Amino acid sequence: MNELNEETLREMIERAKKAANNAYSPYSKFKVGAAVLSGERQIFAGCNVENASFGMTICAERNAIFQSVAHGARKILAVVIYTPTAEPTAPCGACRQVINEFGPSAEVICVCDGKNSARWTLSQLLTNAFGPNNL
Ligand code: THU
Repeated sequence: MNELNEETLREMIERAKKAANNAYSPYSKFKVGAAVLSGERQIFAGCNVENASFGMTICAERNAIFQSVAHGARKILAVVIYTPTAEPTAPCGACRQVINEFGPSAEVICVCDGKNSARWTLSQLLTNAFGPNNL
């Protein structure tokens, strides 16, 4: 994808790491930060926010996407996910479905504290997705 040059990717990783610092995860102790690149090339970030009623937890990816939508940016070109782990962490199924709504062709890049990273297109992560065109 052309929009995602090295500089933009670096900036997105930076934003995702910053957001992970703000993760509210007293129950799992698992911090996640995400940054999305909108169609207007703006970056929006989010972290996971847990709740004493565990099911109310929101993942970092969905938080970042909702930030984007709240700012009127409904097209997602790329999602960066950072976890302070040795290996990259792929997004959960619920987040894949929500990414599909706004970025069916988005790039998903997962980074961590180790040297490995992972990169997929959303359609690789969610084949034959159910989406707006099915309604
Ligand atoms: N989590 C995310 O933020 N994103 C994912 O894709 C997977 C899971 C969060 C939710 C919860 O706060 C913690 O990680 C453990 O599941």
